[in-house]
Amino acid sequence: MKKIIAFLGTISLFSITFSNTFACNKTIQENTIEENQISYYTLSIGNGLFSYLKIGSKAILFDAGIGLDQFAIWKGRKHKTNQFASNFLKWTGVEEIETVFISHNHSDHYANLDAIAKNFKINNLVLPLNGNSLKNRFVSNREKSTSINEKIYLNSNTKLYNFEKTYRFLDIDFYNWSYSELNYMKGLSSKDENNASAIIYFKVNSKSILITGDAEQELGNRLLKNKESNFYKVDIYQVPHHGSKNALSNNFVKKVNPSICYVSGTNGDEKSYREWGGDHIFPTAKAYSNISSCQNRYLTGKVLSNSSSDKQKNDYFVNAEGAKNSDYDHQNASYEYRFFKNGSYNKYYFEPTVSNPNFLSSINSKKPDYETYLNDHSL
Ligand SMILES: [Fe+2]
Repeated sequence: MKKIIAFLGTISLFSITFSNTFACNKTIQENTIEENQISYYTLSIGNGLFSYLKIGSKAILFDAGIGLDQFAIWKGRKHKTNQFASNFLKWTGVEEIETVFISHNHSDHYANLDAIAKNFKINNLVLPLNGNSLKNRFVSNREKSTSINEKIYLNSNTKLYNFEKTYRFLDIDFYNWSYSELNYMKGLSSKDENNASAIIYFKVNSKSILITGDAEQELGNRLLKNKESNFYKVDIYQVPHHGSKNALSNNFVKKVNPSICYVSGTNGDEKSYREWGGDHIFPTAKAYSNISSCQNRYLTGKVLSNSSSDKQKNDYFVNAEGAKNSDYDHQNASYEYRFFKNGSYNKYYFEPTVSNPNFLSSINSKKPDYETYLNDHSL
Protein backbone atom coordinates (compact mmCIF):
# COMPACT_ATOMS: atom_id res chain seq x y z
CA MET A 1 0.00 0.00 0.00
CA LYS A 2 2.80 2.34 0.93
CA LYS A 3 4.35 1.74 -2.46
CA ILE A 4 1.10 2.61 -4.22
CA ILE A 5 0.74 5.84 -2.25
CA ALA A 6 4.34 6.75 -3.00
CA PHE A 7 3.75 6.02 -6.67
CA LEU A 8 0.62 8.17 -6.80
CA GLY A 9 2.52 10.90 -4.99
CA THR A 10 5.19 10.80 -7.63
CA ILE A 11 2.62 11.12 -10.39
CA SER A 12 0.99 14.15 -8.81
CA LEU A 13 4.34 15.74 -8.06
CA PHE A 14 5.39 15.70 -11.65
CA SER A 15 2.06 15.90 -13.37
CA ILE A 16 2.13 18.77 -15.79
CA THR A 17 -0.04 20.94 -17.93
CA PHE A 18 1.04 22.60 -21.10
CA SER A 19 0.11 25.95 -22.48
CA ASN A 20 1.54 28.06 -25.21
CA THR A 21 3.13 31.06 -23.62
CA PHE A 22 4.81 32.66 -26.59
CA ALA A 23 2.46 33.95 -29.19
CA CYS A 24 5.37 34.29 -31.62
CA ASN A 25 6.42 30.69 -31.41
CA LYS A 26 4.19 27.77 -30.62
CA THR A 27 6.99 25.27 -30.16
CA ILE A 28 8.08 26.56 -26.75
CA GLN A 29 5.92 25.30 -23.94
CA GLU A 30 5.47 26.38 -20.41
CA ASN A 31 5.83 23.57 -17.93
CA THR A 32 3.75 23.79 -14.79
CA ILE A 33 4.79 21.36 -12.14
CA GLU A 34 2.40 20.63 -9.32
CA GLU A 35 4.95 21.35 -6.67
CA ASN A 36 4.51 24.32 -4.38
CA GLN A 37 8.10 25.42 -4.66
CA ILE A 38 10.94 25.04 -7.12
CA SER A 39 14.37 26.42 -6.40
CA TYR A 40 17.28 27.45 -8.57
CA TYR A 41 20.69 27.62 -6.90
CA THR A 42 23.94 29.25 -7.93
CA LEU A 43 26.94 28.08 -5.94
CA SER A 44 29.97 30.08 -4.94
CA ILE A 45 32.73 27.84 -6.25
CA GLY A 46 35.29 30.29 -7.65
CA ASN A 47 35.91 30.76 -11.35
CA GLY A 48 33.76 27.89 -12.46
CA LEU A 49 30.06 27.12 -12.79
CA PHE A 50 27.80 25.02 -10.59
CA SER A 51 24.05 25.77 -10.69
CA TYR A 52 21.08 23.53 -10.09
CA LEU A 53 17.34 23.32 -10.20
CA LYS A 54 15.72 21.52 -7.27
CA ILE A 55 12.29 19.96 -7.49
CA GLY A 56 11.30 17.92 -4.46
CA SER A 57 14.32 15.80 -3.61
CA LYS A 58 15.67 15.72 -7.18
CA ALA A 59 18.10 18.10 -8.81
CA ILE A 60 19.10 18.98 -12.33
CA LEU A 61 22.65 20.32 -12.46
CA PHE A 62 23.93 22.87 -14.94
CA ASP A 63 27.66 22.23 -14.92
CA ALA A 64 29.56 20.76 -12.00
CA GLY A 65 32.64 22.91 -11.76
CA ILE A 66 35.54 23.20 -9.34
CA GLY A 67 36.25 20.84 -6.55
CA LEU A 68 39.44 19.53 -7.86
CA ASP A 69 41.11 17.25 -5.42
CA GLN A 70 39.68 14.03 -6.74
CA PHE A 71 41.27 14.08 -10.13
CA ALA A 72 42.76 17.39 -11.11
CA ILE A 73 45.29 19.82 -9.86
CA TRP A 74 44.67 23.50 -10.28
CA LYS A 75 47.76 25.69 -10.46
CA GLY A 76 49.89 22.96 -8.99
CA ARG A 77 47.77 22.56 -5.86
CA LYS A 78 45.61 19.66 -4.82
CA HIS A 79 42.32 20.83 -3.41
CA LYS A 80 40.54 19.40 -0.42
CA THR A 81 37.16 21.05 -0.64
CA ASN A 82 35.53 19.03 -3.38
CA GLN A 83 32.90 17.80 -0.91
CA PHE A 84 31.40 21.27 -0.58
CA ALA A 85 28.98 20.97 -3.50
CA SER A 86 27.78 17.50 -2.48
CA ASN A 87 27.29 18.57 1.14
CA PHE A 88 25.43 21.66 0.05
CA LEU A 89 23.14 19.66 -2.24
CA LYS A 90 22.31 17.28 0.61
CA TRP A 91 21.73 20.11 3.06
CA THR A 92 19.20 21.65 0.70
CA GLY A 93 17.33 18.34 0.53
CA VAL A 94 18.64 16.80 -2.69
CA GLU A 95 18.73 13.01 -2.62
CA GLU A 96 19.11 12.14 -6.27
CA ILE A 97 20.53 13.82 -9.37
CA GLU A 98 18.13 13.49 -12.25
CA THR A 99 20.44 15.06 -14.83
CA VAL A 100 23.76 16.80 -15.17
CA PHE A 101 24.20 19.12 -18.15
CA ILE A 102 27.84 19.82 -19.03
CA SER A 103 28.05 22.94 -21.19
CA HIS A 104 31.51 22.40 -22.72
CA ASN A 105 34.79 20.58 -22.32
CA HIS A 106 36.54 22.76 -19.74
CA SER A 107 37.38 21.41 -16.30
CA ASP A 108 36.03 24.46 -14.43
CA HIS A 109 32.62 23.17 -15.62
CA TYR A 110 32.97 19.46 -14.83
CA ALA A 111 35.72 19.09 -12.21
CA ASN A 112 33.25 18.31 -9.43
CA LEU A 113 31.43 15.60 -11.38
CA ASP A 114 33.52 12.80 -9.87
CA ALA A 115 32.61 13.85 -6.32
CA ILE A 116 28.93 14.25 -7.24
CA ALA A 117 28.85 10.79 -8.82
CA LYS A 118 30.34 9.28 -5.67
CA ASN A 119 27.73 10.95 -3.46
CA PHE A 120 24.57 10.63 -5.55
CA LYS A 121 22.83 8.43 -8.05
CA ILE A 122 22.95 10.29 -11.38
CA ASN A 123 20.23 9.20 -13.77
CA ASN A 124 21.19 11.17 -16.88
CA LEU A 125 24.19 13.09 -18.12
CA VAL A 126 24.18 15.44 -21.12
CA LEU A 127 27.58 15.51 -22.79
CA PRO A 128 28.94 18.67 -24.37
CA LEU A 129 29.60 18.92 -28.09
CA ASN A 130 32.62 16.71 -28.91
CA GLY A 131 31.76 14.86 -25.73
CA ASN A 132 34.21 12.04 -26.35
CA SER A 133 37.04 13.83 -24.56
CA LEU A 134 34.88 13.91 -21.42
CA LYS A 135 33.44 10.47 -22.04
CA ASN A 136 36.94 9.01 -22.27
CA ARG A 137 37.56 10.07 -18.69
CA PHE A 138 34.66 8.02 -17.32
CA VAL A 139 35.34 4.86 -15.34
CA SER A 140 32.67 2.74 -13.68
CA ASN A 141 35.00 1.55 -10.93
CA ARG A 142 34.97 4.26 -8.29
CA GLU A 143 38.45 3.33 -7.05
CA LYS A 144 39.95 4.11 -10.42
CA SER A 145 39.20 7.83 -10.45
CA THR A 146 42.16 9.62 -8.95
CA SER A 147 43.88 12.95 -9.03
CA ILE A 148 46.70 11.35 -10.98
CA ASN A 149 44.85 9.91 -13.95
CA GLU A 150 42.10 12.55 -14.17
CA LYS A 151 39.43 9.88 -14.47
CA ILE A 152 35.83 10.52 -13.39
CA TYR A 153 33.74 7.90 -11.68
CA LEU A 154 30.35 7.44 -13.32
CA ASN A 155 27.98 4.59 -12.62
CA SER A 156 27.37 2.57 -15.77
CA ASN A 157 23.60 2.98 -15.24
CA THR A 158 23.82 6.71 -15.95
CA LYS A 159 22.25 7.35 -19.33
CA LEU A 160 24.36 9.52 -21.63
CA TYR A 161 22.93 12.08 -24.05
CA ASN A 162 24.72 13.82 -26.88
CA PHE A 163 24.50 17.50 -27.86
CA GLU A 164 20.91 17.80 -29.03
CA LYS A 165 18.35 20.48 -29.87
CA THR A 166 15.95 19.66 -27.03
CA TYR A 167 15.83 17.52 -23.94
CA ARG A 168 13.11 16.57 -21.53
CA PHE A 169 13.79 15.70 -17.90
CA LEU A 170 11.39 15.65 -14.93
CA ASP A 171 8.70 16.70 -17.41
CA ILE A 172 10.50 19.94 -18.21
CA ASP A 173 11.51 20.88 -21.75
CA PHE A 174 15.05 22.19 -22.19
CA TYR A 175 16.00 24.01 -25.39
CA ASN A 176 19.59 24.17 -26.59
CA TRP A 177 19.80 27.49 -28.46
CA SER A 178 23.33 26.73 -29.64
CA TYR A 179 22.14 23.77 -31.68
CA SER A 180 21.20 25.97 -34.65
CA GLU A 181 24.91 26.84 -34.96
CA LEU A 182 26.01 23.22 -34.91
CA ASN A 183 27.94 23.35 -38.19
CA TYR A 184 29.85 26.46 -37.11
CA MET A 185 30.61 24.87 -33.76
CA LYS A 186 31.84 21.65 -35.31
CA GLY A 187 34.42 23.68 -37.23
CA LEU A 188 35.87 25.34 -34.13
CA SER A 189 39.37 24.47 -32.98
CA SER A 190 39.87 23.12 -29.49
CA LYS A 191 41.26 26.54 -28.48
CA ASP A 192 37.84 28.02 -29.17
CA GLU A 193 35.96 25.58 -26.98
CA ASN A 194 34.00 28.34 -25.19
CA ASN A 195 32.04 29.09 -28.35
CA ALA A 196 30.98 25.43 -28.41
CA SER A 197 29.03 25.99 -25.17
CA ALA A 198 25.46 24.77 -25.03
CA ILE A 199 23.07 27.63 -24.21
CA ILE A 200 20.16 26.06 -22.36
CA TYR A 201 16.76 27.73 -22.02
CA PHE A 202 13.81 26.46 -20.03
CA LYS A 203 10.67 27.82 -18.45
CA VAL A 204 8.97 26.28 -15.48
CA ASN A 205 6.15 27.66 -13.32
CA SER A 206 6.26 31.03 -15.11
CA LYS A 207 10.00 31.57 -14.60
CA SER A 208 12.49 31.30 -17.44
CA ILE A 209 16.20 30.65 -17.04
CA LEU A 210 19.05 30.91 -19.55
CA ILE A 211 22.30 29.09 -18.80
CA THR A 212 25.07 30.14 -21.13
CA GLY A 213 28.21 28.26 -20.03
CA ASP A 214 31.22 30.17 -21.37
CA ALA A 215 29.55 31.35 -24.61
CA GLU A 216 31.39 34.26 -26.20
CA GLN A 217 30.54 37.06 -28.59
CA GLU A 218 31.19 35.12 -31.78
CA LEU A 219 28.56 32.52 -30.98
CA GLY A 220 26.22 35.22 -29.65
CA ASN A 221 26.56 37.33 -32.79
CA ARG A 222 25.76 34.34 -34.96
CA LEU A 223 22.65 33.64 -32.90
CA LEU A 224 21.61 37.29 -33.11
CA LYS A 225 21.93 37.14 -36.87
CA ASN A 226 20.44 33.74 -37.56
CA LYS A 227 18.02 33.09 -34.72
CA GLU A 228 16.25 36.44 -34.59
CA SER A 229 12.73 35.14 -33.96
CA ASN A 230 13.63 32.70 -31.24
CA PHE A 231 14.78 34.99 -28.46
CA TYR A 232 12.66 35.24 -25.35
CA LYS A 233 12.79 37.37 -22.28
CA VAL A 234 14.40 35.48 -19.44
CA ASP A 235 13.97 35.96 -15.72
CA ILE A 236 17.35 34.60 -14.67
CA TYR A 237 20.44 34.99 -16.86
CA GLN A 238 23.77 33.39 -16.15
CA VAL A 239 26.34 35.93 -17.32
CA PRO A 240 28.59 33.75 -19.44
CA HIS A 241 32.26 32.95 -19.03
CA HIS A 242 32.46 34.16 -15.41
CA GLY A 243 32.15 37.78 -16.54
CA SER A 244 35.00 37.67 -19.06
CA LYS A 245 35.36 40.62 -21.42
CA ASN A 246 34.64 38.19 -24.27
CA ALA A 247 31.29 37.12 -22.87
CA LEU A 248 28.06 37.50 -24.88
CA SER A 249 27.48 41.09 -26.03
CA ASN A 250 25.26 43.86 -24.79
CA ASN A 251 23.01 43.28 -27.83
CA PHE A 252 22.52 39.69 -26.81
CA VAL A 253 21.62 40.71 -23.25
CA LYS A 254 19.14 43.28 -24.57
CA LYS A 255 17.44 40.56 -26.58
CA VAL A 256 16.82 38.34 -23.58
CA ASN A 257 16.13 41.33 -21.28
CA PRO A 258 16.81 39.53 -17.98
CA SER A 259 15.55 40.74 -14.61
CA ILE A 260 18.09 38.76 -12.56
CA CYS A 261 21.71 38.38 -13.70
CA TYR A 262 24.34 36.42 -11.88
CA VAL A 263 28.04 36.11 -12.46
CA SER A 264 29.78 32.93 -11.38
CA GLY A 265 33.31 34.25 -11.20
CA THR A 266 35.70 35.76 -8.75
CA ASN A 267 38.64 38.05 -8.25
CA GLY A 268 41.70 35.79 -8.39
CA ASP A 269 43.55 38.20 -6.11
CA GLU A 270 41.39 37.58 -3.08
CA LYS A 271 43.41 35.23 -0.90
CA SER A 272 40.90 32.54 -0.08
CA TYR A 273 39.88 32.30 -3.71
CA ARG A 274 43.29 32.56 -5.27
CA GLU A 275 43.69 28.87 -5.80
CA TRP A 276 40.33 28.70 -7.51
CA GLY A 277 40.81 31.58 -9.85
CA GLY A 278 43.45 30.27 -12.20
CA ASP A 279 45.11 33.21 -13.89
CA HIS A 280 41.86 35.08 -14.29
CA ILE A 281 40.29 38.02 -12.53
CA PHE A 282 36.56 38.14 -13.05
CA PRO A 283 34.14 39.75 -13.59
CA THR A 284 35.34 42.41 -15.98
CA ALA A 285 33.86 45.87 -16.25
CA LYS A 286 32.90 45.18 -19.85
CA ALA A 287 30.81 42.11 -19.02
CA TYR A 288 29.25 44.00 -16.17
CA SER A 289 28.38 46.98 -18.32
CA ASN A 290 26.67 44.55 -20.67
CA ILE A 291 24.16 43.77 -17.94
CA SER A 292 23.65 47.34 -16.71
CA SER A 293 19.97 47.15 -17.72
CA CYS A 294 19.46 44.10 -15.53
CA GLN A 295 17.46 45.02 -12.41
CA ASN A 296 19.14 42.61 -9.99
CA ARG A 297 22.78 41.55 -10.18
CA TYR A 298 24.47 38.95 -8.04
CA LEU A 299 28.00 37.69 -7.78
CA THR A 300 29.05 34.32 -6.49
CA GLY A 301 32.58 35.66 -6.09
CA LYS A 302 34.65 38.48 -4.78
CA VAL A 303 35.35 41.66 -6.72
CA LEU A 304 38.52 43.70 -6.71
CA SER A 305 38.61 46.32 -4.04
CA ASN A 306 38.38 49.89 -5.23
CA SER A 307 41.65 50.95 -3.68
CA SER A 308 44.18 53.00 -5.57
CA SER A 309 46.65 50.13 -5.34
CA ASP A 310 44.58 48.05 -7.76
CA LYS A 311 46.48 48.59 -10.96
CA GLN A 312 43.78 46.88 -12.96
CA LYS A 313 40.81 48.60 -11.39
CA ASN A 314 39.80 50.31 -14.59
CA ASP A 315 39.36 46.97 -16.30
CA TYR A 316 37.33 45.21 -13.70
CA PHE A 317 33.98 45.23 -12.06
CA VAL A 318 34.40 48.00 -9.50
CA ASN A 319 34.18 50.81 -12.02
CA ALA A 320 31.69 49.21 -14.34
CA GLU A 321 28.60 51.04 -15.38
CA GLY A 322 25.70 49.68 -13.36
CA ALA A 323 27.85 48.01 -10.72
CA LYS A 324 26.42 50.25 -8.02
CA ASN A 325 23.14 48.34 -7.99
CA SER A 326 24.78 45.02 -7.35
CA ASP A 327 24.55 42.95 -4.24
CA TYR A 328 27.91 44.14 -2.87
CA ASP A 329 26.98 43.11 0.64
CA HIS A 330 27.09 39.41 -0.08
CA GLN A 331 30.21 38.92 -2.12
CA ASN A 332 31.26 35.27 -2.29
CA ALA A 333 27.71 34.15 -1.54
CA SER A 334 25.75 31.27 -3.00
CA TYR A 335 22.11 32.04 -3.76
CA GLU A 336 18.73 30.34 -3.86
CA TYR A 337 15.89 31.70 -6.01
CA ARG A 338 12.69 30.01 -4.86
CA PHE A 339 9.65 30.07 -7.15
CA PHE A 340 6.13 29.47 -5.96
CA LYS A 341 3.13 28.20 -7.89
CA ASN A 342 1.38 31.57 -7.59
CA GLY A 343 4.17 33.24 -9.59
CA SER A 344 5.93 34.94 -6.65
CA TYR A 345 9.50 34.21 -5.71
CA ASN A 346 11.92 34.64 -2.80
CA LYS A 347 15.69 35.10 -2.82
CA TYR A 348 18.11 33.86 -0.20
CA TYR A 349 21.85 34.14 0.18
CA PHE A 350 24.35 31.87 1.85
CA GLU A 351 27.35 33.21 3.65
CA PRO A 352 30.72 32.81 1.94
CA THR A 353 31.14 29.16 1.34
CA VAL A 354 34.25 27.87 -0.36
CA SER A 355 36.13 30.82 1.10
CA ASN A 356 34.88 30.20 4.63
CA PRO A 357 35.99 26.90 6.20
CA ASN A 358 33.78 27.45 9.26
CA PHE A 359 30.62 27.58 7.22
CA LEU A 360 31.74 24.52 5.32
CA SER A 361 32.41 22.53 8.47
CA SER A 362 29.12 23.63 10.01
CA ILE A 363 27.36 22.10 7.04
CA ASN A 364 29.48 18.97 7.40
CA SER A 365 28.92 18.41 11.08
CA LYS A 366 26.22 20.47 12.78
CA LYS A 367 23.99 20.83 9.74
CA PRO A 368 22.02 23.91 10.76
CA ASP A 369 18.35 23.46 10.02
CA TYR A 370 17.96 24.60 6.47
CA GLU A 371 14.69 26.52 6.68
CA THR A 372 15.76 28.17 9.95
CA TYR A 373 18.93 29.32 8.25
CA LEU A 374 16.91 30.81 5.41
CA ASN A 375 14.76 32.82 7.80
CA ASP A 376 17.82 34.95 8.59
CA HIS A 377 19.13 35.07 5.04
CA SER A 378 16.31 36.44 2.98
CA LEU A 379 17.02 39.17 0.42
FE1 LIG B 1 34.64 28.47 -17.61
